[in-house]
Amino acid sequence: MNQATSPTPVVTIDGPSGSGKGTIAKLVADKLGYALLDSGALYRLTALAALNAGVDLSDEARLAELAANLDIRFDIANGEVSAVMGGEDVSRDIRMERVSMAASKVAAVPAVRQALLQRQRDFRAAPGLVADGRDMGTTVFPDAPVKIFLTASAEERARRRFAQLQGRGVSVSLRDLLEDIRARDDRDMNRAASPLAPAEDAVVLDSTDIDIDGVLTKVLELVHQRIG
Ligand code: C5P
Repeated sequence: MNQATSPTPVVTIDGPSGSGKGTIAKLVADKLGYALLDSGALYRLTALAALNAGVDLSDEARLAELAANLDIRFDIANGEVSAVMGGEDVSRDIRMERVSMAASKVAAVPAVRQALLQRQRDFRAAPGLVADGRDMGTTVFPDAPVKIFLTASAEERARRRFAQLQGRGVSVSLRDLLEDIRARDDRDMNRAASPLAPAEDAVVLDSTDIDIDGVLTKVLELVHQRIG
């Protein structure tokens, strides 16, 4: 395929909560000058909209309607992305534990996933896109030339989250965090619609014992091999 007809390249980074994919995706996007899609934020925004509107999380039709009609945008200032819903910056709200838990419930609804599919694909723009989530390589961008599946043990992921929250002065128990992570993993991996799993052509990286720089180097090597 020649340059003129090559589709805009996408680097997909999928993996479970706390594997470091969001951090890596941002670093890779900065390094390559690509746009960034944090697909989890879309599920989090849908969950927050549902919680705010008092929608029952088992009401699939209402959830899909909310997802299809989200009034959201992502603003970038000083390299930081903020999520704005209904004109209000909700970047902090969507990271709360109760929203994380609700997001993984909302994300199991096939009609919600369908409603968010095209919105995610619309982020693909020259010179390229880095997309992080659970099904970027399997469902949303199956033709991506670089697919990474980033994982780490549940214990290590809980420890990272614990340190992050402690750093922000939030008091939590490590055991509760580990339980939450396991519950979300279980729901993400065992749902029928786009379950969390590596694409057949994904490169699996385990970040349990590699630091961010080590992971970044490996991802950039793959980008150079496959995209140039
Ligand atoms: O990645 P993040 O933790 O922000 O995602 C929040 C939730 O959204 C996850 O627990 C997962 O259930 C869901 N999600 C998903 N598919 C994606 C991204 C996130 O199901 N592509």
